[in-house]
Order: sequence, then C-alpha cells, then structure tokens
Amino acid sequence: MNRILLSLVFLIVTVLSVPSAVMSADGQVKKTGKKISENQCLKCHIRLKSRLKKPVSEWNKSVHAKVGNSCSLCHGGNPLEADMKKAKSSKYKFTGKPDEKQITDFCGRGGCHNTSLNQFKKGPHYKSVLEKKHPNCTDCHGSHNIQKSSLDIIKPESCTGCHSEKYSREIISSINSIEKGIDRLQTDMDYLAVKRIPIEKIYNRLDNTKHLFHQLVHVFSREDIKSTKRIVELEIENLKSDVRSKVDLSKRLELLYMLMFVISTAIIAGFIIYSFSMYLRRR
Ligand code: HEC
Ligand code: HEC
Ligand code: HEC
Ligand code: HEC
Repeated sequence: MNRILLSLVFLIVTVLSVPSAVMSADGQVKKTGKKISENQCLKCHIRLKSRLKKPVSEWNKSVHAKVGNSCSLCHGGNPLEADMKKAKSSKYKFTGKPDEKQITDFCGRGGCHNTSLNQFKKGPHYKSVLEKKHPNCTDCHGSHNIQKSSLDIIKPESCTGCHSEKYSREIISSINSIEKGIDRLQTDMDYLAVKRIPIEKIYNRLDNTKHLFHQLVHVFSREDIKSTKRIVELEIENLKSDVRSKVDLSKRLELLYMLMFVISTAIIAGFIIYSFSMYLRRR
C-alpha cells in the first residue's frame, strides 16, 4: 500500500513540474559590457566644466559605452595619454567638435554607420543638412547619450521647424502604425518560442521586414515611404496569418493538455481517496 501511495506522489510531482520547466527555459538575461580602466579622456574631462564635462556623464549611459567604445571611437586621439596636447596630436587623428554640416558624414564614416548614411543620402534630408545643417543624425539620436534606437525618438517637434504640424503628425502616425503591427507579431512569436514551436523561417522574414522598415526613417522621400509601406504592410499581413494559425494550434494543444491534466488529477485524487478509505476500513 505504501509503495502505491509513494508512486502516486511521484507521478503528481512529475506532472506538475512539466509546465514550469518550459517557462523557465526563457527569461535568461545575459549581461555584457566591458569596463574601460585608465581612459585619460574621461579622467580629464570629468574634472572640467559644463559643455566639456557633459559628454562624459551622458556617454556613460549610452549604447556606445555599453559595447566598450570610448571617446576616441568618434573623436580619435590617444586615450592613454594624460597630457592634453599629446593626447590630441594630429598623429592620433584627433577630431574635435565636428561642424554641424559634417555630422552625418562624421557618423557614417569608415566602419561605423555607412549603411545608415548611404540610406540617408538617398532622401531629401541630406541636401537639407548640407544647406541648413538639419535634420542631422544627432537631431534625432543625440550625440553622447545615444540610446538603442526606437521610433519614440522621432517627435513632431523635431520636424515642425521645416514642415507643417499636420504633415509631421501624419508621417509620424503612419510610421507608428506599421511599428505597432510589427510589435504585435513579435509578441505572438515570443509566445511561440516559449512553447518551443519552430518559427525560424517566420522569424527571418520578420527580421527582413523590420530591416526594410528601419531604413524607411532614414530615406524619408515620399515615394520611398509609400512603396516601402506597401511592401511592409503586405508582408505583415502574410506573417500575421502564418503566426496566428500557429498560435491557435498551440493554444488548442495547451487546452488539451490542461484537460488531460485535470482528468488525470481527478483520477489520481480518486485513487488516493479510495486507497485512504480502504486503509481506514482495514484498521
Ligand atoms: C588633460 C586634460 C584633457 C585630456 C587628457 C583630454 N582632453 Fe579633451 N579637452 C580638454 C580641454 C581643457 C578642452 C577645451 C579646450 C580646447 O578645446 O582645447 C578639451 C576639448 C575637447 C573637445 C572639444 C573640442 C572642440 O572642438 O570644441 C573634444 C571633442 C575633446 N576634448 C575630446 C577629447 C578626447 C577624445 C580625449 C582623449 C583622446 C581628450 N579630449 C583628452 C582637456 C582634455
Ligand atoms: C558616438 C560618437 C561620439 C562619442 C563616442 C563621443 N563624442 Fe563627443 N561629440 C560627438 C559629436 C557628433 C559632437 C558634436 C555635436 C554635439 O556637440 O552634440 C561631439 C561634441 C563633443 C564636445 C563639444 C561639446 C560642445 O557642446 O561644444 C566635447 C567636449 C566632446 N564631444 C567630448 C567627448 C568626450 C569627452 C567623449 C567621451 C566620453 C566623447 N565626446 C565621445 C560625437 C561623439
Ligand atoms: C529623422 C530622425 C533621424 C535621423 C535624422 C537619423 N536617424 Fe537613425 N534612426 C532614427 C529612428 C527613428 C531609428 C529607429 C528605427 C526603428 O526602430 O524603426 C533609427 C535607427 C538608426 C540606427 C539603428 C538601425 C537598426 O537597424 O537598428 C542607426 C545605426 C542609425 N539610426 C544611424 C543614423 C545615422 C548615422 C544618421 C545620420 C546619417 C541617422 N541615423 C539619422 C531616426 C533618425
Ligand atoms: C531643417 C529642416 C528640416 C527638418 C527639421 C525636417 N525636414 Fe523633412 N524635409 C526637409 C527638406 C528641405 C525636404 C525636401 C523638400 C521637400 O520635399 O519639402 C524634406 C523632405 C521630407 C520628406 C519627403 C517629402 C517628399 O515629398 O518626398 C519627408 C517625408 C520628411 N521631410 C519628413 C520629415 C520628418 C518626419 C521630420 C522630423 C523627424 C523632418 N522631415 C524634419 C527639411 C527638413
């Protein structure tokens, strides 16, 4: 009798532990980030005042700091040199504050953001930057406090200097509506990933769509917005139905699982009650 009871308890524990194991497979956050030890640019500039100090505190919170890049990434110079003149000698290709008309080229040079720059050059804003200095990369992204980009960084106020308020709002809301569609898909895909349903192909398609969409904000010509929007919307529709059918299937399976769980629990409970009453009766 004891053995039967023991194996029943074991069975219950096994059944209960299955869903929690699946849940905990997700949710692992890996932390990265290198520490810059002796950086003389930081050490000296933190002791300076206002406009010369501000970049340090801002930069500390930026994505560039998180991946371990220092001031020299953009400004050149030798960060190991404590002497100001030596640190900034032309030998180390020091670049001071870039001219505002030069900022787009400054961010897009070399192995940095040439893809974004090339996209940007295709739109009408590049010409505007060369003439009126704006809207340049730092107008939207900032210079030292650069965060992981999202559409939230585009505000109507950054456009109304040159475009009408109505036009600015229209453009921004049309971009936001696409973003929302992508977000919803992402939520469904995350759900499928937790359920361990193979979604690699769909995921790649979503990635490509996202990429195409991200380029949109840098091009900003009316034709490009129209055509890209059409392609992106069409692909989102296709992906939506693919993902939805997978989510529905998974939910149905989950329901079935729950049902089986309830039934088996009831049977097990019945067993226990029955064995217990038999045990009492025998005594
Ligand atoms: C010993 C102190 C010291 C060190 C080390 C130092 N700086 Fe500076 N930096 C200054 C001072 C003072 C100024 C303002 C006077 C000037 O522009 O010459 C300045 C100005 C700047 C400017 C603005 C120049 C402009 O055009 O307005 C930049 C950018 C800059 N530093 C970046 C760096 C970088 C990058 C490094 C490391 C490679 C660095 N600094 C190392 C003291 C320092
Ligand atoms: C991602 C590229 C990037 C990095 C990294 C970067 N800067 Fe800059 N910095 C810029 C740009 C672009 C400007 C010009 C636009 C502006 O002033 O906001 C600038 C301007 C400056 C200025 C002039 C500010 C003013 O208002 O006159 C100083 C000083 C400076 N940077 C220092 C630093 C120091 C110190 C670091 C490291 C903590 C650093 N920068 C890291 C891109 C960068
Ligand atoms: C009109 C505002 C604006 C301007 C100007 C702008 N960007 Fe962006 N950028 C954005 C927005 C918004 C995003 C985020 C797009 C998204 O998440 O869909 C972004 C994203 C990015 C990304 C990340 C791309 C990715 O695939 O995740 C990089 C890199 C970038 N911008 C660089 C630049 C450079 C370099 C310039 C100047 C040549 C520039 N941006 C000019 C608004 C702007
Ligand atoms: C410093 C001025 C300036 C700012 C700021 C600016 N733009 Fe522009 N924009 C222009 C110029 C100049 C053109 C090209 C001439 C035109 O088509 O009106 C243009 C063109 C455009 C176009 C393409 C219009 C077409 O017919 O192809 C779009 C879309 C656009 N801007 C959106 C924005 C958005 C969104 C913002 C804010 C994030 C913004 N602009 C900020 C100057 C600016």
